[in-house]
Amino acid sequence: MDMSNIFSPISAELNTVESQLTHNLDSYVEILNHASHHLVNAGGKRLRPGFTLLAGKLYRDCLDEIIPVAVALELIHLASLVHDDVIDNSDTRRGTETVKCGWGNRISIYTGNFILARALALVAQYERCDIVDVIADASMKICEGEFIQMQSCYNVNLGLKNYLRRIERKTALLISVSCQLGAMLCCAPGIETNALQKYGYYLGMAFQVTDDILDFIADEKVLGKPTGSDIKQGVITLPALYALKHAPDRQELADLLSSPELCNTYADRIIDIILDSDGIDYAYFASRYFAQKAKNQLRYFPEREVKKAFLDTADFILERDF
Ligand code: IPE
Ligand code: IPE
Ligand code: MG
Ligand code: MG
Repeated sequence: MDMSNIFSPISAELNTVESQLTHNLDSYVEILNHASHHLVNAGGKRLRPGFTLLAGKLYRDCLDEIIPVAVALELIHLASLVHDDVIDNSDTRRGTETVKCGWGNRISIYTGNFILARALALVAQYERCDIVDVIADASMKICEGEFIQMQSCYNVNLGLKNYLRRIERKTALLISVSCQLGAMLCCAPGIETNALQKYGYYLGMAFQVTDDILDFIADEKVLGKPTGSDIKQGVITLPALYALKHAPDRQELADLLSSPELCNTYADRIIDIILDSDGIDYAYFASRYFAQKAKNQLRYFPEREVKKAFLDTADFILERDF
């Protein structure tokens, strides 16, 4: 199963999103123009605009009206990635060099801000406070999630609640909003908009848990970004949380994870301890649990091709290796 198969009901609209993404990042400032087109051209799964369009497709055949918001959501995601790669000091993203690697920190910050501003301009076209409200809230919470993550690094005493709070904010809410806005802009009944919003939320949780698993086990070339980077930065994700409680070497693990120097120097040892515990299996269990909760939200929707695409996406998220 790959994304282009799953998104086949919206393939024409996704092509339009693609050209709009490029068009909206045009700038007469050459470096800004170049840096902001760089990651868009490198691809990516286009999950967030995909969800907006799929949600819209449940209600309408013609999705012209929701294309701008779908583009805006990918741009907000992209801006957060450009900044995230500065913060995480990452050199690779989407299989190519990051803006940080190619142009440095200062240009990355401006580029992220520029991309975000373009997203705002697209959202403004709707002249709808309710849409702005939803997007502003999600954008604010992405910052909060990233911030909580930063404050939680190297702290082995924080538990599941802290982890869930930060992944909800940094990832799940934007995916949730992507589903919600497609429904809102197509005048879906409130109860269905709500169900789609919850689907996106649970799917977003499953998505980030899987992202955290892939940081341990993925092939870097397939993933398109560095692995092992969470541990090197002291970011304690679900497999590590499990190992801190259950691994035979949990005391050694806690000692290593508590120190920035040791995390960096002994990342391989830390990863081995976590892989030797059942931490990865446990995290997959959690990811399946969230994906199933996502699917359950769709129970009242009629069995159509679009609903199948939502269900297949939940499976794809669990099985993905990139
Ligand atoms: C990466 O998101 C950042 C996370 C929230 C885990 P994606 O995995 O959707 O990134 P692209 O858009 O496909 O590159
Ligand atoms: C980033 O989280 C999520 C954002 C909202 C930017 P990660 O740091 O885990 O994302 P990757 O692994 O770099 O894509
Ligand atoms: Mg990162
Ligand atoms: Mg990650």
